[in-house]
Amino acid sequence: MDKLVIEGGKPLSGTIRIHGAKNAALPILAATLLAREPVTLRNIPKLLDIEVMLDIMRDLGCAVLRRGDVVTIDGTVADSSHVPERLMRLMRSSVFLMGPLLARFGEVQVYQPGGCAIGERKIDLHLRGLAALGAKIEETGSRIVCKAARLTGAEISLDFPSVGATENIMMAAVMADGRTTIIGAAREPEIQDLQRFLNAIGAKVRGAGTDTITVDGTDNLGGCDFQIIPDRIVTGTAMVAAAATRGEVTLEGAESAHLISLIHVMRRAGVHIETEDGIIRVGAKGRPRAVDRIVTSPYPAFPTDMQAQLMVLLSLAGGVSVIKETVFEGRFKHVDELCRMGADIRIDLNSAIVRGVPRLYGTAVEATDLRAGAALVIAGLAAHGRTIVEQVHHIDRGYDEIERMFASLGGDISRVSDG
Ligand code: UD1
Repeated sequence: MDKLVIEGGKPLSGTIRIHGAKNAALPILAATLLAREPVTLRNIPKLLDIEVMLDIMRDLGCAVLRRGDVVTIDGTVADSSHVPERLMRLMRSSVFLMGPLLARFGEVQVYQPGGCAIGERKIDLHLRGLAALGAKIEETGSRIVCKAARLTGAEISLDFPSVGATENIMMAAVMADGRTTIIGAAREPEIQDLQRFLNAIGAKVRGAGTDTITVDGTDNLGGCDFQIIPDRIVTGTAMVAAAATRGEVTLEGAESAHLISLIHVMRRAGVHIETEDGIIRVGAKGRPRAVDRIVTSPYPAFPTDMQAQLMVLLSLAGGVSVIKETVFEGRFKHVDELCRMGADIRIDLNSAIVRGVPRLYGTAVEATDLRAGAALVIAGLAAHGRTIVEQVHHIDRGYDEIERMFASLGGDISRVSDG
């Protein structure tokens, strides 16, 4: 098991380039099964979750070739619609394969992804959406089989704007007969990227970025050469790390338009942020200010995936901040670890009351999930003394060598393998 060893207290400074978005790449990789010609995807990050998805695609029979951050996939040779339970359990995002496999093969077999560290994460909205398109769904234990000789467009209203359910329904509807309308759709930038990809292979999708998405079914699908958007959560993580260490960092290949709510909150905390085409500059000198009420909610509100990282910055602020988590019920696992580093945070139902302290102190902490892990790395970089972050594999799911990113900005951080 790898660990990160961090000697904290050095202001980060310098320039880094942001890699492609995991949460855009995963559904788009699944969607390549709809293409009738090979597809080239650029800016595919080297992350554990992406490699698991590529393994699943290979298992389904796809021809996959990776050269650096360019992945070429020929999904036309896929010959299976069964996602093996072993691979399904490795990554929840394999649920994205349901829509495209069902559309392509008329049936799909997957397994319940089960609970996960940040909450229950049901897939009922995915299944209801597929059923509305005409799929017959059988659940036996954890096995789920969906069948439909031909899917038919329908009007589907989501009770909650689930990112994954919106994406699954969009992909299933691409080849359906007639028009599908998703009402109450999620509006995340990754959904807009999926729409761009689907249209690039010939699909007829519009409305992504609003709460109503329309898909007109077509069989006329080809291939494409496509560039994935930059990762807004990696960008946000680096921005918060720059501020928490009172450094000055420039992020290139970033998209500030995807981070409006974070930028707004960080400016309220007194962080200096400048944006121009593809570039974000972050600088912080003194102690941050407390921010009274932050609520995580679906895009464009404050992202749940930045809640843990922002909490580190606010734990160093002058004053009391309140962060309410409304998307996932189990997303305060980093709080105990931050308190062990000297933070003063109290949980009251789904709110964290963060009383700023002048400094954090390094100690051994454990990454319990991806973003909690990223938060502990930021805390370690800002803290006095040595921090050891265990269970780094959680962080590797979403950050390509996080230690290299921060070391290139002058952070004293390295990875140690226990063998
Ligand atoms: C995606 C992101 C994840 C992010 C989350 C919320 C990917 C690969 N992952 O996850 O990083 O934290 O959006 O921004 O894109 N829900 C149901 N029934 C369903 C589906 C969801 O009740 O069928 C609930 C979930 O339990 C959760 C909430 O809806 O409480 C949000 O989930 P959702 O938007 O679906 O997140 P994911 O797509 O899993």
